[in-house]
Amino acid sequence: MNARPTPSAEALDRLRAIVGPQGFLDQAGDVEPFLTDHRKLYRGATPLVLRPDSTDQVAAILRLCNESGIGVVPVGGNTSYCGGATPSADGSQIVISLSRMRRVRAVDPLNYTMVVEAGCVLAQAQAAASEVGRLFPLSLGSEGSCQIGGNLSTNAGGTAVLRYGMMRDLVLGLEVVLPDGRILDSLSSLRKDNTGYDLRDLFIGAEGTLGIITAAVCKLFSRPASILTAILAIPEPAAAVKLLSRLRVASCDCVSTFELMPRLALDMVLKNISDTTDPFDTRYNWYVLLEIGSGGYDTGLHESIEAELSKAMDEGLIANAALASSDAQREKFWRLRESIPEGQRREGASIKHDISVSSSELPRFIVEGSDAIQQIAPEARIVAYGHLGDGNLHFNASQPTQGDAASFEALAPRINRAVHDLVARYGGSFSAEHGIGQLKRGELQRYKNPVALSVMKSIKHALDPKGIMNPGKVL
Ligand code: MLT
Ligand code: ZN
Repeated sequence: MNARPTPSAEALDRLRAIVGPQGFLDQAGDVEPFLTDHRKLYRGATPLVLRPDSTDQVAAILRLCNESGIGVVPVGGNTSYCGGATPSADGSQIVISLSRMRRVRAVDPLNYTMVVEAGCVLAQAQAAASEVGRLFPLSLGSEGSCQIGGNLSTNAGGTAVLRYGMMRDLVLGLEVVLPDGRILDSLSSLRKDNTGYDLRDLFIGAEGTLGIITAAVCKLFSRPASILTAILAIPEPAAAVKLLSRLRVASCDCVSTFELMPRLALDMVLKNISDTTDPFDTRYNWYVLLEIGSGGYDTGLHESIEAELSKAMDEGLIANAALASSDAQREKFWRLRESIPEGQRREGASIKHDISVSSSELPRFIVEGSDAIQQIAPEARIVAYGHLGDGNLHFNASQPTQGDAASFEALAPRINRAVHDLVARYGGSFSAEHGIGQLKRGELQRYKNPVALSVMKSIKHALDPKGIMNPGKVL
């Protein structure tokens, strides 16, 4: 990235004028939350945070920034894991927060769609769908603060991908402001429209490097009449993979959540997070959080899945099972899973990987990946958890219980290389759901297919020839 001058006072004044007095922050204390990322890996600087309240304002801002060559960093809920929304440290970039654009513009339960603005918090979008008896199924630990625009820009995944897909699968049309200020209005609610290139997909997962998504048409779904939630103790990951395919058949693909959790992760949660309890009296090596939704009529979901689970138990695929018998218990089970990142954070330094391989190959990957890490850091604690049904694990290593954080973190380059090289041998991805941001730019250059990389660069150049959009991220 070429160094850019800091924006002139005159340009900053013109930007302030576009959004009016309620629409900007420029005092040190006010801009502070926008200068660091969720994991505190990066620290940036900016002279101005703009908070536009309309698509037209976003368009005017980008037009001016494009003319003046000012770098623009779009930010949603600032929950990125890869520093995708943190400005550079030289103070040359302005930040655009979409948080004032949070309206649900329309809900059409008969067409199973709703139009929401980019700054709408995910939990609000879920609630808007629920109010009309529909489901918006994207589900993430950060759903109380992450925003639809960020979910789209990072193609968020989460814990219901198995049944409903990633954010890319949950959207029909988009409204996007292009770097030169033109508005690409593709807010279409159509499910079929074969009229040329699919421009929409370019902006999903682009992390704000091609333009700013300002609104989206989200797909809605029917709500299951009943939901079965369980924690299963399993002997080993291979048993979990077999079990999942059995449950998919038995439920006709209604498994929405199938999350793998090693004992070590559960230990970290039970030790560090209040109001958590072990679901069993006995310790097991591995667990799965399972959730299956019925159809619209509750046609004996619990009975048939319980029968399937007890058959699996007879065959040794399950060692024990705890089924939630109330909403409160269901929440307790979810709390165990969703507290893993925080439970692990409180155990000191961790080196994180967000990998995916074929689900059927995950068990072998876990063995080989653990071995690869422990050859470099024999005492590292491997915390391999996550979305087994999607072939996506957070394949993390926590610092040894004895030892200091800094010497463990110094091993990160070697550990990352070993894990990501192994992922590449499996034909997998080094970033399954957390994106590239600043953190994984080097890995993108190293592992992405060179032809794909060159096409990405051509697209970037075609849409953003001056390179103003989220400079220093992704490419
Ligand atoms: C999760 O699945 O919990 C997140 O994607 C990963 C994390 O928060 O570490
Ligand atoms: Zn995850």
